[in-house]
Amino acid sequence: MESTIQTILVNTKPKYTVSIGPGLLAQCGELAAGVLTPCRAAIVTDSTVAKLYLARVEEYFQAAGFSVCAHVFPAGEEHKNLSTLSEILEFLAGEQLTRSDCVVALGGGVCGDMAGFAAGCYLRGVKFIQLPTTFLSAVDSSVGGKTAVDLRHGKNLAGLFLQPSAVVCDTDCLQTLSPTELADGAAEAIKTGVLSGEALFSLTDTDDLFRNLKEIITRCVAFKATVVEQDELDNGVRRTLNLGHTAGHAIEACSNYGIRHGHAVAAGLAIIARASEALGWAEEPCAARICAALQRNNLPTGTDYSPAALARAALADKKRRGGEISLVIPQKIGKCEMKSVPVEELESIFAAGWENC
Ligand code: GLY
Repeated sequence: MESTIQTILVNTKPKYTVSIGPGLLAQCGELAAGVLTPCRAAIVTDSTVAKLYLARVEEYFQAAGFSVCAHVFPAGEEHKNLSTLSEILEFLAGEQLTRSDCVVALGGGVCGDMAGFAAGCYLRGVKFIQLPTTFLSAVDSSVGGKTAVDLRHGKNLAGLFLQPSAVVCDTDCLQTLSPTELADGAAEAIKTGVLSGEALFSLTDTDDLFRNLKEIITRCVAFKATVVEQDELDNGVRRTLNLGHTAGHAIEACSNYGIRHGHAVAAGLAIIARASEALGWAEEPCAARICAALQRNNLPTGTDYSPAALARAALADKKRRGGEISLVIPQKIGKCEMKSVPVEELESIFAAGWENC
């Protein structure tokens, strides 16, 4: 009989496994005990997720021999900042966590990013475990060790790399997500499909992602693992994972972060796919297929912000290096390439792929 649990090894330093499947939360304590000597586990979560899962996760960690304490911060991207990070650090210190203890991130991308950052700088680094509860964190942010908080000047401007000791993804947690939250994750899954190839892309090109949720997450994580293993610190091939993110981050910034990350990335992906075709960079037409997959998942394929406004916002982003900016260009489904372009060409590239919502 086929196992309901998928396990993927991420061969970084240190290496760790990502376990994916239904009902896995009940095994989170045991899985943590498999990689860490039972210690004090500081569970960090937000006010929404705490109501759903905190009591159970505390129980599962205690049953596996950990002693637990928990910190709950207010839910929402607007709380992903230095003040919340400082509260988490003060909580860890107040609980007298030592270097042999661990932090457990229970929640979506905001929680994972902040709890991971706190784990990476508290006492110059303690171990941490990711328990992703959103589709977006399951397919992308819980794997690869990027952590961050937003600064007043922009998103994710302060952070560090810290690979988790384990990631435990209970696909049942995704059943409570709103259609908008699900669509956010779908955007990153479609992006990964464009990067990795037909096998994943065709699974995301549907109006019923739930049918293949576990397989989509597994394929996204497996692909991301191969990329992160080659370039843990994001100096080369890992930057291809930013497909759609240059225009996407610009759309988020133009909306003052009123447009959600996944929705902005979807529009950014559509813009760069159309631009690639229009400018003769694509090997095979794929923009129409990408846009159809996005639309099936209730995601936008355009924006009302002008190419000039997007270019201005993109050039303030951290992906700019001197007079050039790196773009990830889709060539066909399963093949994308990095291209460095002069900053003054960015507006015309966006214009070549621009459509309004
Ligand atoms: N989310 C892109 C990365 O982890 O590099």
